[in-house]
Amino acid sequence: MTYVLGVETSCDETAAAVVRDGCDVVSNIVASQARIHEQYGGVFPEVASRQHILHIVPVVEQALAEAKLSLEEIDAVAVTYGPGLAGSLLVGVNLAKGLALGAELPLVGINHLEAHIYANWLQPGQEILFPLVCLLASGGHTNLILMTGHGQYQALGQTLDDAAGEAFDKVARLLGLGYPGGPEIERAAAQGDPSAYDLPRAWLKGSHDFSFSGLKTAVLYLVREQGTPGDLPVADLAASFQAAVVDVLVEKTALAAEESGARQVLLAGGVAANTELRVRMTERVPVPVLCPSPSLCTDNAACVASAGWFRLRAGERAGWDLDVVPGLTLPSQQS
Ligand code: KG4
Ligand code: ZN
Repeated sequence: MTYVLGVETSCDETAAAVVRDGCDVVSNIVASQARIHEQYGGVFPEVASRQHILHIVPVVEQALAEAKLSLEEIDAVAVTYGPGLAGSLLVGVNLAKGLALGAELPLVGINHLEAHIYANWLQPGQEILFPLVCLLASGGHTNLILMTGHGQYQALGQTLDDAAGEAFDKVARLLGLGYPGGPEIERAAAQGDPSAYDLPRAWLKGSHDFSFSGLKTAVLYLVREQGTPGDLPVADLAASFQAAVVDVLVEKTALAAEESGARQVLLAGGVAANTELRVRMTERVPVPVLCPSPSLCTDNAACVASAGWFRLRAGERAGWDLDVVPGLTLPSQQS
C-alpha cells in the first residue's frame, strides 16, 4: 500500500489529504476562505496567501491525524504548483518541499487542472476507460479535453473569455447573491422558471470553444431594466442563466464525445458540482458520464494526491528547485 499526502493552496482553499494507492481517500481536509473573500465579491490574492500561511500546518496535521498516520508512514508528497495565484501556490509548494526534505520523501508537482480531472479516480467502484472526453469547468477554466491515457491530453476547446464558474460568480453578484456564486445560483434557480428569459447561447458552430461574456452582459442589461435591486425576479433570472450555461456545456461536450469516439465523458472542476449539469449531461450523452462527488469537484487535496500517485507510478519526481507556475496550462500531446 502506498500513501500519498496531497497539498493544495492554489486559490482560496487550504487543503491537505491522504490517499491510498491513488484511489482511496483516507483523509481530506479543506479550510475554505470563502467567508473572508465574500466581502470582496471574489478572491483577494494578498489575503489568500496570508490565510494559507495561517492554516496550512494545522490542515496538514489534521489530515495526518484523521488518517491515523505519522509523516514517517507517508510514501510521497504531491503538491499543486500551478495554475493559480503565485503567493498562494508558494505557501503549499514551500511547505511540501520542507516536509519531503525533512522526512526524506519523494516530491511530485501537480498541475491543478490535472488534479481536478483525477478527482474522478476517487469514486469507489468507478472504472475509467480511455479514450475519454473531459469537461473541466471551474472558476478559472473551461476546457474540453480528449484524454487518451494517464497524463495524455489533447485540447479540443476552451473558453474565449470568461470561465463558466466565473460567469456563475459574476451573475450571482449582479443578482445580489453571495460568493461563490455557483451554489447560490443553483439554490435560487431551484425556485425559478428556466424559460422565463430567453438568454443567448454562444454556440460558436464548428468549434469546441466556449464564450460566456455575452450571456453575462445580457443578464446585466436585464437587471438594469428591472430598476430597483430589491424587486429583481432573482429565481427566474438564476434559472434562465443556469439553463443557458448548462445547454452549451452539455451540447458541446456531447458533440466532442461523438466526434472523438470517446468511451466515457468525465466532468471535473467546481461547476461539475451543479446538479442540473450532471443530470442533463447524463441524459444527453450516449456513453457513460462520470463525475466526482460534489465535494471533490471543488478545490481539494485528495485529487492532488491521486494525480500524484499516478505520476509517481510513472517514475516522475520533482527536484528541490520545483517552482510555482501561475499560468500553467495542461500540456497537449499528440498520441
Ligand atoms: O474548481 P473550483 O473549486 O476552483 C477553481 O479552480 O476555480 O471552482 C470554483 C468555481 C466557482 O466559480 C464556483 O462558483 C463554481 O466553481 N461552482 C459552481 C457550483 N459549485 C461551485 N458552479 C455551478 N454550480 C455549482 N453547484
Ligand atoms: Zn480548482
